[in-house]
Amino acid sequence: MTALTRLALTDFRNYESLVLKLDGRPVCLYGSNGAGKTNLLEAVSQFGPGRGLRAATLAEMTRHGAPGGWTVAATLNDEQKIGVSLDQGGSAKRSVRIDGAPASPGDLAERMRILWLTPAMDGVFRGGASDRRRFFDRIVMAHQPSHGTAASRYEKALAERNALLERGHVDPAWADAIEARLAEAGAEIAVNRALVLAELQAAIDARPEGHFPKADLALEGEAEAAALKGDDFRAIFDLLVDAYRSGRRRDVAAGRTLSGPHRSDLGVIHRPSGAPASEASTGQQKALLIGLVLASAGALSGSGAGPAPLLLLDEAAAHLDPDRRTALFGELSAMNGQAWLTGTDGYLFETFGTAAQRVRVGECSAIVEA
Ligand SMILES: Nc1ncnc2c1ncn2[C@@H]1O[C@H](COP(=O)(O)OP(=O)(O)OP(=O)(O)O)[C@@H](O)[C@H]1O
Ligand SMILES: [Mg+2]
Repeated sequence: MTALTRLALTDFRNYESLVLKLDGRPVCLYGSNGAGKTNLLEAVSQFGPGRGLRAATLAEMTRHGAPGGWTVAATLNDEQKIGVSLDQGGSAKRSVRIDGAPASPGDLAERMRILWLTPAMDGVFRGGASDRRRFFDRIVMAHQPSHGTAASRYEKALAERNALLERGHVDPAWADAIEARLAEAGAEIAVNRALVLAELQAAIDARPEGHFPKADLALEGEAEAAALKGDDFRAIFDLLVDAYRSGRRRDVAAGRTLSGPHRSDLGVIHRPSGAPASEASTGQQKALLIGLVLASAGALSGSGAGPAPLLLLDEAAAHLDPDRRTALFGELSAMNGQAWLTGTDGYLFETFGTAAQRVRVGECSAIVEA
């Protein structure tokens, strides 16, 4: 079981000081628009790698008018104290503490993993490849926390290569060096993505037929295709080095790097209809997304390689018909990781009965009801 049994915020978004005492059951946050429900999910998401559920900067999350930075602290499974904060003085760095001692994000990743679904993801199947890449990479990061650092290394090398291309005169020795770094991070990214895609597809296939349609996933990208067919790191590295080198002339003309894992896409087929997810209805897409996240949670819980994930579902319940809602609540109650849900009205969560705890959010505060 992975659950937050206490959550305390200081100067985080609209909360000056808040303490919630919880148990392991799903947490249903309800309250009017602007009450601070999503802010609470965002606070919990700080325990994961990266910038959290809104991809906000550390400073943006500081309460307006606060004297210093913010803190999000929690008790994990009634035993371990974890905390993340933006420290006063504005070093602009996130610091992590576990049981009072300084720790790294990696230490945190060993204790908890987090998945989320937000309304901002609703258009992911219809949007551009970069949206789907980001969506999938978040899932990969939950499975493989080092994916985030590989992505940062890739971004850095990519920016260097693009700067070189923009100058129009590419020094081959320079380019070789940058492209080697790009290919190294790129191969790691591709291997991670391929691994997680296979795990996720297996988890989808193992799910019961029901209210959340299954998806057939594909990775569209040369390096990922090689990883999926079993090529090892070295072979993918070589493939990428070749692709960057042979693409130099074209890339100079374009002023940027036109091939590599930063251009890959996630293909999603809505299995019941056999059509691309982009063609499915709004409700079908939402159900498909929920199915994907549930499968991903299942894959993480089932792998035995780490703690079960917390699942943050922002406004997922409101868009579902009552049958789907009941099905979702049933699955969430049975999960090994605590689920956090938001909705504007408490009645949305009624079918949970006593299987969940309700928290009323309003006026910069939140109260656990039962
Ligand atoms: N840094 C900040 N300091 C103080 N208040 C903030 C800060 N950032 C956001 N807020 C406030 O938080 C509120 C929004 O909170 P949140 O998005 O959590 O609402 P919500 O309950 O999820 O609403 P909805 O139902 O509309 O999604 C707004 O009123 C906003 O002004
Ligand atoms: Mg909200």
